[in-house]
Amino acid sequence: MRADVIIIGAGAAGLMAAMTAGKRGRSVLVLDHAGKAGRKIRIAGGGRCNFTNINAGAGHYISANPHFCKSALAQFSPSDFIAVIEQHRIPYEERKEGQLFCVRSSADIIRMLEQECRDAGAVIHLGCTLHGVERRDAFAVTTSKGIFRSSSVIVATGGLSYPNIGASGLGHAIARRFGLAVTELHPALVPLVFSRKDQRIFGELAGISFPAAVSCKERTFRENILFTHKGLSGPAILQISSYWNRGDLLSIDLLPDVDTRAVLTARRQSRAILATLLSSSLPRRFAHTWCSLHGWERPMAAYSAKELDAIAQRLHAWELYPAGTEGYATAEVTRGGVDTDELSSKTMEARKVPGLYFAGEVVDVTGQLGGYNLQWAWSSGYAAGRSA
Ligand code: FDA
Repeated sequence: MRADVIIIGAGAAGLMAAMTAGKRGRSVLVLDHAGKAGRKIRIAGGGRCNFTNINAGAGHYISANPHFCKSALAQFSPSDFIAVIEQHRIPYEERKEGQLFCVRSSADIIRMLEQECRDAGAVIHLGCTLHGVERRDAFAVTTSKGIFRSSSVIVATGGLSYPNIGASGLGHAIARRFGLAVTELHPALVPLVFSRKDQRIFGELAGISFPAAVSCKERTFRENILFTHKGLSGPAILQISSYWNRGDLLSIDLLPDVDTRAVLTARRQSRAILATLLSSSLPRRFAHTWCSLHGWERPMAAYSAKELDAIAQRLHAWELYPAGTEGYATAEVTRGGVDTDELSSKTMEARKVPGLYFAGEVVDVTGQLGGYNLQWAWSSGYAAGRSA
């Protein structure tokens, strides 16, 4: 069996590449081992799929080459994707900071992509196990459904997160097999796990959530943090997790909008204990646990000015060393991937292997939380589909 273009992976990038290549008149075959196309799109955004962010730009992506994503984002921007959505009359809404979600369900987006693929003549084979990709005069893709040949192959197999719905390292393995470098891979947009000591102290607080500013190295994210049974989650933690490496210190500003020194000084004569005072701005159980952790359990009047300064400072910089992340089982994405030095940023084609393309999360371009990862999948899938 032969096609002009074989696409491995019927996810966001693969389906976008398929409809784009098909519209150019290329015969397209999409192969996926899962029983359904677009399974990650389905669960994205809690089932409503934060399908893009109107502010998407290079600053929202992590990559060894921060400029790499620019060309694809310019070729197919958030407004290009919105135009397709509107053509299909899919209702959507902006939630915050440019994040666009489906009003009904992510299934609308999957149906739209499948329809576009059908209209473009692209054929999707699901439940198809991949055994190997070889290249002689053409590419030969060996599968459980036979050997398929093509002049171009687009690898759009995604990252390693959520292996229970079909994620695998096949794309990275194909890259290595063809001599292309793959950068170090890490779970990203992922909850962080406490050290054993912190787990004993904070494990009881699971379910508590409040806004904070979380910093690691030069990055800060202001959003909610959420205590889990194992550690910390919530949007601010998921965001910072993409920049965190084992051994890095997290610094959490518990009251970013409060002049804590002024507030504490104003209550210097009070008989109330610090935890009670803090409970007006922070969840009560957290305030008590945090104060007893630091041994700050006396009435306010018992602290010297120097001690109050130290408390004020610590409220703006609570420091902790997470032991790790929850790993790929709960990570939204994988940081790292096929080294961008190996690819053309314009076409996503491997420089050393003409005809071999990579698109989507399998590439070393990782978006922040907020619709940026799907936008990267659309943009890079489009760039590959336009050239393959
Ligand atoms: P994707 O993972 O979509 O597709 C890869 C395809 O390759 C899959 O169909 C898979 O079955 C197939 N495949 C893998 N290995 C294979 C093999 N060995 N053989 C054959 N086929 C194989 N992003 C965002 O922008 N907004 C959001 O709201 C969310 N929400 C979200 C929630 C959750 C829970 C997760 C896990 C992720 C998100 N994301 C997100 C991230 C986003 O879903 C993700 O970055 C894109 O789907 C990546 O698109 P790709 O096409 O690259 O991979």
